[in-house]
Amino acid sequence: MKKRFYVTTPIYYVNDIPHIGHAYTTIAADILSRYNRLQGKEVFFLTGTDEHGQKVEKAAAEKGRNPKEHADIMVDNFRNLWKRLNISNDAFIRTTDDAHIKTVQGLLQMLWDRGEIEKREYAGWYCTPDERFWTEKDLVEGNCPDCGRPVDQIHEENYFFLMSKYQSDLIKYIDDNPNYILPETRKNEVLGFLRNNVLGDLCISRPKSRLSWGIPLPFDENFVTYVWFDALVNYYSATKYLAPQQSDSSQQSALSSQEETFNFQLSTFNSYSWWPATHHIIGKDILTTHAVYWSTMLTALNLPLPKNIFAHGWWTVHGKKMSKSLGNMVDPNAMVEKYGVDALRYFLFREVPFGLDGDFSEQALINRINTDLANDLGNLVSRFIAMAEKYFGGEIDIGRIDAGASSELEEQCAYAHMNVHRKEYWSHLHFSLMLENIWDIIGETNNYIARKEPWKLAKENIDYLKIVMFNIWNALRITALSLYPFMPDTAGKIWRQLGLKSLVDEAKQYSPEIFEWDWKPSYEIKVSKAEHLFPRIETKEAKNKRRKAQNPSDTPRP
Ligand code: MSP
Repeated sequence: MKKRFYVTTPIYYVNDIPHIGHAYTTIAADILSRYNRLQGKEVFFLTGTDEHGQKVEKAAAEKGRNPKEHADIMVDNFRNLWKRLNISNDAFIRTTDDAHIKTVQGLLQMLWDRGEIEKREYAGWYCTPDERFWTEKDLVEGNCPDCGRPVDQIHEENYFFLMSKYQSDLIKYIDDNPNYILPETRKNEVLGFLRNNVLGDLCISRPKSRLSWGIPLPFDENFVTYVWFDALVNYYSATKYLAPQQSDSSQQSALSSQEETFNFQLSTFNSYSWWPATHHIIGKDILTTHAVYWSTMLTALNLPLPKNIFAHGWWTVHGKKMSKSLGNMVDPNAMVEKYGVDALRYFLFREVPFGLDGDFSEQALINRINTDLANDLGNLVSRFIAMAEKYFGGEIDIGRIDAGASSELEEQCAYAHMNVHRKEYWSHLHFSLMLENIWDIIGETNNYIARKEPWKLAKENIDYLKIVMFNIWNALRITALSLYPFMPDTAGKIWRQLGLKSLVDEAKQYSPEIFEWDWKPSYEIKVSKAEHLFPRIETKEAKNKRRKAQNPSDTPRP
């Protein structure tokens, strides 16, 4: 059986339109999915939308819609953006899906039956926009410690998940599984919080009188469940009705016993083995809900914990948090329109190590396009194709691998290539390091051309030039493959320019040998010229500067 790889993004609130932060998390999950598919694994990549709760109810009311109608309209903002960003998700979950609602209710009932949930009188401070309770001592100058907005005092009866009893188990689990929460700084934050605070129980209900847009508690119809309880369960419920079906009969029997335990109707409940997830990718803002709430919920349900929760950093603009009120939200659609999808994907993961915060600026993006993409990569590909056409009418002699001469570039690229596939880089999501290593291969290939001087070999040693050209072709082939998870379109274009067929089909057929230097296609190779992959971008300022230098009397154009 193929190895399985299950990756998730947070499910995004439908009340907002997507911004660069949402795109960031989703592209990260896409990179992992594409890489693991190339490695021959069976991948399930899940994203979706979080559609219940006060925020959505309020946003819908403002538009004069009912919440579901509102969600049906807003969900397309995400679906369309994912298409545009070349996101290869296998499923899209909506928390208003019937099967999800049934799963949430099934799990709530199970916790209730097991005495993991209790009804209590409760008084506390409630932040309506964040939909969270706080204690008096949490408040900062009387306001919500998270968003700084005013809080309301609330007295009511509610249901509580007895989370506190799992505090020491969770500390132990995190200690015993060093990769459970990454990066390490985030793990230490969670451990610090758990060691220095008494973990309370979690209020998991809201009275219907105050909030009607939620999943009703199966054991008390006067309440709906807290939006985070509903939302976190998506990662699990999707494995039951959206993940690829399990055909293996031994799995089937394990599943039916699960189905009995759950005691709720799920006719398609045959993909239990997709749980646990390999990675939950989230932003640092929602680490507590995942690392603490979700982990303890799963423990109480006797379900295995995910293999990893990775909390990435935040993008700011001019050092400031993006917000509607500041009007500084970066729209990923506009960036794709202006610079192309692959340039954006590359920039986000090369500019800042995944896990740290970063500042988004179009100038930094343009710099990356001009240096890394246009100069280093684009020029290398077009120079190579031009030489192959000039010296050999586009033909590459792929039968030419022989020790000595051909191994030189291979050796130079080997270390970088090994790093691109280093297990630890992939398990720790060191995307920027992988990209640096791919650029080492590109740099080595550029140096190789400078050293070998093909234009001289064309006159002096045409046989040796054939070998040199084969080596460059092969280094570019490996570059294209390595780039594929990050920049799928560009990788495909290079692959085709190199005279190869469809990258994805070939990779499926050959993986993982296709990554080897010695891999050769079974057909003749003829390269083909195409447009430059990344034309340089000249900013208005640079254009004016250049004009001025060429003609000092010229006045700058607006
Ligand atoms: N619905 C919840 C998540 C439930 S998951 C079970 C939610 N949704 S959200 O729409 O607010 O999206 C939050 C996610 O967007 C963050 O976790 C993060 O992935 C991403 N980002 C939002 N703003 C961001 C930045 N400024 N920078 C980077 N990513 C950020 O929370």
